[in-house]
Amino acid sequence: MQKFFITTAIPYANAEPHIGHLLEFIQADVVARYQKLQGKDIFFLTGTDEHGIKIAEAAEKQGIEPQRFVDAISAKFREEADALNIGYSYFIRTTDKQKHWPNVEKIWRAMVQEGDIYKGHYTGKYCVGCEKYLVANDLDEQGLCVVHKKPPVQIDEDNYFFKLSKYQDQVRQLIESGGLKIIPEFRKAEVLSFIDQGLQDVSFSRSKEKLGWGIPVPDDPSQVIYVWADALTNYLSGVEYANAGATFQRFWPPDVQVVGKDIWRFHALYWPAMLMSAHLPLPKILVIHGFLTKDGEKISKSLGNGISPIDIMQKFHVHADSLRYFFLREAPPFSDGDYTDNRFVERYNADLANGIGNLVSRVAKLGSLAPEGITLGANDLQDAIRKTWDAYRAAMDGFLFNDALVAIQHLVSAADEYVNQHKPWESLKKGDEASKQEFENKISSLIFALGNLGWLLAPFMPWQSERILEIAGLAGENQDSWQGRKVKLEPAPALFSRIQISE
Ligand code: ME8
Ligand code: MG
Repeated sequence: MQKFFITTAIPYANAEPHIGHLLEFIQADVVARYQKLQGKDIFFLTGTDEHGIKIAEAAEKQGIEPQRFVDAISAKFREEADALNIGYSYFIRTTDKQKHWPNVEKIWRAMVQEGDIYKGHYTGKYCVGCEKYLVANDLDEQGLCVVHKKPPVQIDEDNYFFKLSKYQDQVRQLIESGGLKIIPEFRKAEVLSFIDQGLQDVSFSRSKEKLGWGIPVPDDPSQVIYVWADALTNYLSGVEYANAGATFQRFWPPDVQVVGKDIWRFHALYWPAMLMSAHLPLPKILVIHGFLTKDGEKISKSLGNGISPIDIMQKFHVHADSLRYFFLREAPPFSDGDYTDNRFVERYNADLANGIGNLVSRVAKLGSLAPEGITLGANDLQDAIRKTWDAYRAAMDGFLFNDALVAIQHLVSAADEYVNQHKPWESLKKGDEASKQEFENKISSLIFALGNLGWLLAPFMPWQSERILEIAGLAGENQDSWQGRKVKLEPAPALFSRIQISE
C-alpha cells in the first residue's frame, strides 16, 4: 500500500482558533480523505506552535503562566478541529518535551555537525506577530510590518546563525526543477524571485534573557532555539524522527504540506535547507493557500477579528459538513476569499438545500413509489457521471477544491434536469408492464447518480455523504457491487433545511 503523509502549518497557540486556521485544516483533511479513497495509507499531522515571544507576551498579558496558557488554547484548537471532523492521525504540540523536544535537539545537532550553525551577532528588525526577521519588502512606507500593521522591534544581540546562504543554489535548483513542487505556479515564481535577491544566513536562536519561552540550544542553555526552527521540526516529530522507528521509516518525507501565503518563506526556503543540512529526504509538494478575510481584512488572532466555525454552526444550526462544503466551495484555493453570513446563507441554500438536498429527497420520494424495490441496471446518466469524475479528479489532483465542487454541482443539475425531462411519475401512471420497466430504469439511473454523489462528496462531507448513500440504499457498498442490486427507497427527511439570517 502506498503511503501518503500530509501536514498543515501548526497555528500559534496565542489566541483562540478562527475560520482561517480551520480552512487550512479542512483543505488538508479533504486531501487526506481523497487520498485514502485512492487506497493510500495516510498520516495526517497537525498541532499547535506554542513557543516564542508572541505567546510569552500573550500569556503575560493575561497573567497566566505560559504552559497553562498554551494548554488551554491548544485544547481549543483540537476541539474545533474535532468539531469539524478533521481526521488527523496525530496532534503535535511543540511544548511536548517527550514527543517534540528530542527531535529539535536532534536536527540542531545534525546541523551543527554539518558546520551550518555558527555564533554571530544579529542587528535588525523583527515582527513579533510574524515571529520573523524582516527584510525591506516586509515593511510598508511607514515602516510597519505589512501583515500586522505594527512597528517591528529592534534586535541587537549575540546568537546562533543558520547558514541559509550556503543552500541558496541547491534550494533554487530544487524548486526550479519541481523536486519540491510549489502550488500554485505564481507562488513558485515569487519564491524564485525572492531567492534571486540573495539568501542571508538566519539568526536561529534568541538570548534566554530576552526570551525564556522556548527550547534551550543543546549545550548552550544561555540561548533558546528560534521559534521557527523549533516549529518547522514538528513535521519530523509527528512521525518520530528522534527514534527513527517504523513510523518515520514508513512516512517520511511529507507528500504534501499545506500552508498559508504568509509563511512560504519558512516552508520553501528555511525548511528544505534545514533538511538538506541534516541529510534528510525533502517534502514533495508545498501547497500555498490564500487568506480568509472579513470586510477585506485578514482574519487574524493578532487583529482580533476572528470568527469561530463553531459559532457559525450554532448560529445557523448546520452540520460541520455544511461549513466544510461552504469554505471549500466559496474560498478560492490560492487567493483570498471574504467571509460574510450572507454568502454562507446564499450558498448553503442554493447548493445544499435546493441543490443536493432537494435532489436526494426527490429521488427518494420517487423511488418509494416502487414499494417492491428497484433493481439497479439502467444508467442513463452514465456520461454525466463519467464527465464529473474526470473533472473532479483533475481538480482534486491540482488542489482546486472549488472546481471539484463545481463539477459535483454539474452532476446535481444533470440529474435534476433528467427528472424534469423524463418525468418518471408519468411512466408509472400508465400502469402497463413496459412503462413499469421504464419507471424502474429512470429511477435506477437516478440512484446511480446519488451513489456517485455520495462518493464524490465523501472527502468534503464525510457525514452527509454517508447519509446520501444510505438513502440511496448503497451505504457501505463498493461501487463495483451496485449493478444488479435491488434497493428499496423510502421518503427521507430533508438533508439540509433552508436557513436564513435572523437579526
Ligand atoms: O504561522 N486565512 O501560525 P499562525 C487563511 N505557527 N489562513 C490563515 C488565516 C486566514 N485568515 N490566518 C492564519 C503560524 N492562517 C506558525 C506556523 S508551521 C511550522 C508554524 C493560516 O497561527 C496561516 O497562513 O499564524 C498559517 O498557514 C496557519 O493558519 C497558522 O497561522
Ligand atoms: Mg499568523
